[in-house]
Amino acid sequence: MNRQRPLRALVTLGPTHEPMDEVRFIGNRSSGRMGTEIARALAERGCGVRVLAGPCQPAGLDSLPDVRRFRTAEELRDLLRTDWPAFDLLVMAAAVADWRPRTVRAGKTRRSDAPPLVELEPVPEILGTLSSRPDQFVVGFALEPATDLLASARAKLARKRADCIVANPLETMDAPTVEGTLVWPDGAVERAEEGACTKSAFAKWLVDRVLPKADARLGIR
Ligand code: CTP
Repeated sequence: MNRQRPLRALVTLGPTHEPMDEVRFIGNRSSGRMGTEIARALAERGCGVRVLAGPCQPAGLDSLPDVRRFRTAEELRDLLRTDWPAFDLLVMAAAVADWRPRTVRAGKTRRSDAPPLVELEPVPEILGTLSSRPDQFVVGFALEPATDLLASARAKLARKRADCIVANPLETMDAPTVEGTLVWPDGAVERAEEGACTKSAFAKWLVDRVLPKADARLGIR
């Protein structure tokens, strides 16, 4: 890439854990592998990459030089508020929990205690409420049932105020391969290839589609 300076990319990955007491939490299933492969692909293309990682330890995360950790959605939101202004591209691959316990019990609730009734509250939207400048570029993710993939991804594109949504069928969750589809604001849809491909190959394919658009937005080409 013919840039005057390296593009600065912020990649969020992994789940959030929302505590119920000091031992238990509510969280989404997420290995963090896809986000790690995207961060590696961005670094290979010469970007300056910072990772915000939830509680997970995917292969390859250790080899990335700039990794900051969050546990809850609130911690992720606070890190993004601080870091995002200094970056050009955000890849929001984190699997943010949708609900969290309204109160966190002190200590460890004993198994011999009466089973607790846990009241949940919604976790506030992070991506759709993040302020971005016109020269910044935002990639969101959407995990959707295959039958509803495009319609839901298009709705999320607007709701999340993203420049692109990577839509993945629910049916491929936890699989080593992905069948990702890119959904763009002009209505265009791009599929990586017929059938699934590895997360590493998909990440390279994704980065090759997103970087020229992020570069053009930033005016550094
Ligand atoms: N996301 C976010 N804040 C939340 C929930 C999700 O920023 N509270 C982000 C995710 O990181 C992802 C995108 O929004 O980039 C879509 O996440 P997804 O879980 O598919 O969507 P939800 O908004 O949770 O909607 P639903 O559960 O109804 O599909």
